[in-house]
Amino acid sequence: MGINRRDWLRQSLLASATMLVAGPHAAQGCASERSKELREKDDLILLNWNENPYGPSDVAVQAVNDAMKYANRYPDEVVNELKQKLADKNGLKPANFLLTAGSTEVLSLLGQHVGLQKGEIVSPYPTFPTALRFGERAGASIKRVGLDTDDRIDLDKVLDAISDKTKMVFICNPNNPTGTELLTEDLRSFCRRVPENVLIAMDEAYVEYSNAGLKGSMISLVNELPNLIIVRTFSKTYGLAGLRMGYAVSNVRNIQALRDRHLGSEIAAGWPPLVAASASLDDPEFINMCVAKNAEGKQIVYDAYDRWGVKYNPSSTNFIYARDDRFEKDLVAKMKKKGILITKWPDMTQHVRVSIGKPEHMRLFVETVEEFLV
Ligand SMILES: Cc1ncc(COP(=O)(O)O)c(C=O)c1O
Repeated sequence: MGINRRDWLRQSLLASATMLVAGPHAAQGCASERSKELREKDDLILLNWNENPYGPSDVAVQAVNDAMKYANRYPDEVVNELKQKLADKNGLKPANFLLTAGSTEVLSLLGQHVGLQKGEIVSPYPTFPTALRFGERAGASIKRVGLDTDDRIDLDKVLDAISDKTKMVFICNPNNPTGTELLTEDLRSFCRRVPENVLIAMDEAYVEYSNAGLKGSMISLVNELPNLIIVRTFSKTYGLAGLRMGYAVSNVRNIQALRDRHLGSEIAAGWPPLVAASASLDDPEFINMCVAKNAEGKQIVYDAYDRWGVKYNPSSTNFIYARDDRFEKDLVAKMKKKGILITKWPDMTQHVRVSIGKPEHMRLFVETVEEFLV
């Protein structure tokens, strides 16, 4: 993919320093505020960052506890074990994987890669902004492509937007914040039509929650398409958001190029996230339970929204994106006063996004939000 080494280190250091000081969510201006609230008040209902209310699985917790006795040793073995498991699950080789501290790291590396070339990123919008933000900071221009009338990514429009300057297209499927999902066949044919000199960054953070499930993953194209990079996380269905483990999947050359520019290395995450992720892969029942309970939680909100005539997108994720015409102004602030945190997405001021917690949280969300109907 011709990643350009020029200035990479300087830019990476700058960006990493920002991450260290602020954390990835601080870019959205709310990290320290929320951490403070978390520490102060255990009974806040957190429906704002699409976390998994059930995670981590018991086997992950056990693995972390057991691993503490090895904390004096470097965790190379478990890096290899985790990559081998991921490879076996996906019919690939360990060398097709790069492990990172959450998928945020992969997204920032990819954004910087384009920025350093002063290239262009084409992206549907609104979408998850990390790759675009890091790209812009490093010098990329961003071409934002609007969604269709059902808040779905318009793949033809994205293809049309690709120009000589385009170095990367960013696709988040299912998409955050809209919760919509593309048909697997449409996405596959899109990937095959993107010119080979343009990287495809495919963010699959919510794939396990989607209708297509893992069958909808574009990982199956990694051996076929040299420009495809899949971005995955253990933060969502695996419930490990606070332990930080994500990964990139691509051909060996791209993975090597990313590894060359990744500050630290795959052992940087340390034992706890590595063993937790590895153990979680052996616990598919936990994932099935989380997906089923998530569907139950979503239904509670759908039923209420249908009763009230609130327009929403049927969600392929663990959050629901709805128009807020039926709600009082400042709904997010009003809900916060009641101890329930939800989100308004920057640039999408007419919508609210609610993450799916346990059914009892969603019933409380419904009861509380009903007070603010107009
Ligand atoms: C689409 C998407 N990608 C990536 C991330 C980053 O997740 P993490 O860095 O925890 O893997 C998120 C987090 O909310 C997300 O919604």
